[in-house]
Amino acid sequence: MTVRDTVLDRFREHFDEAPALVARAPGRVNLIGEHTDYNDGFVLPAAIERAVHVAARPRDDSTVTLVSVDFHSETQFSIDDLDDPDLPAWSKYPRGSLWWLQNRGHILPGFDAVIGGDIPIGAGLSSSAAVEVVMLELGLALAGAEMSQQDKALAGVEVEHQFIGMPCGVMDQMASAMGVAQHALLIDCRSLDVRQVKMPAGASIVIMDTAKRRGLVDSAYARRREECEAAAEILGVEALRDATREGLEAARDRLSSVLYRRARHIITENLRVQATALALGSTHGGGLKTAGQALRDSHASLRDDYEVSCYELDVMVDIANAQAGCYGARMTGAGFGGCAVALVDEGAVEAFVAAVGPAYAEKTGLEPHLYVTQAAAGSGVERV
Ligand code: GLA
Repeated sequence: MTVRDTVLDRFREHFDEAPALVARAPGRVNLIGEHTDYNDGFVLPAAIERAVHVAARPRDDSTVTLVSVDFHSETQFSIDDLDDPDLPAWSKYPRGSLWWLQNRGHILPGFDAVIGGDIPIGAGLSSSAAVEVVMLELGLALAGAEMSQQDKALAGVEVEHQFIGMPCGVMDQMASAMGVAQHALLIDCRSLDVRQVKMPAGASIVIMDTAKRRGLVDSAYARRREECEAAAEILGVEALRDATREGLEAARDRLSSVLYRRARHIITENLRVQATALALGSTHGGGLKTAGQALRDSHASLRDDYEVSCYELDVMVDIANAQAGCYGARMTGAGFGGCAVALVDEGAVEAFVAAVGPAYAEKTGLEPHLYVTQAAAGSGVERV
């Protein structure tokens, strides 16, 4: 049974009638371009087949009843009182999107809803961005309003900044709202231009969840952002996207070793994103090898210069990179745990999955989860 079917069934069971709307928003995997989005740089994520779905039906009053399949929980609140701190923590992301829409003057009715998904929670695959985007899709449909996919993504980012308090960049929500099947998205996080990069035939994306859950990621993330801003200021650029290797070397004695390495990661990572997008789009052979090498280099830079990897991610990436048919692997997302990603030859995927899981479990004592995915379409809503 698909997650969508589970959510629809639960709705009928719980509310004894059929939903009127069902919205869907996918998670994302970032192929390359890590921690570059808040430096106005480039990223290359893809929406994945795993998604959050919400089925709903408007009510005549202002009550919202929200049932979570994943948290085995139900909550009720008034659409006019969305930031009540006593409500369950899991409901904060959905409420944030409703809050954003109301702040923008949209008139929302009360509604009954069931929400559920198959994006592992807290694994770095943007389950929270997907919840924000799916609730924006639903809220807009309930209000009879429309917004571009890009504006939905930017609204989701504002929910993170203003309602959740997480100073994230734009990547996750852009990928969830704007994903295209079979394509990665080359996003310029300054101009917000999006170029679709067709995934080459013959390669699969494998997501490897280390089962190590991220700790202290929020404070480390905010600190990296501050370090990047400090480095940009010393380098005399608006954002590290504008810095060059030459400029960095020229300013080396004015930068602490930490700021030097943070800036070096961002500068080289932006170059790797461009090289990967070009390589994936190239029609002659060797493109996947070039892309894979960029992924390997990205991991080393995140581990050594940006210092956001961890033991489990390093073990997973090393095991993956050693397999036949693996073009390249790296950690993906904010880091400190969560998932790694690999580009693997289609014909070698089965053997890759069979080898990597047990080797990782043996080394770490953790039970990993491996998912083979295609790049998927972005969010949407339909009447049912
Ligand atoms: C998290 C943030 C993104 C991005 C990545 C790191 O996923 O939400 O905006 O900064 O970390 O690349």
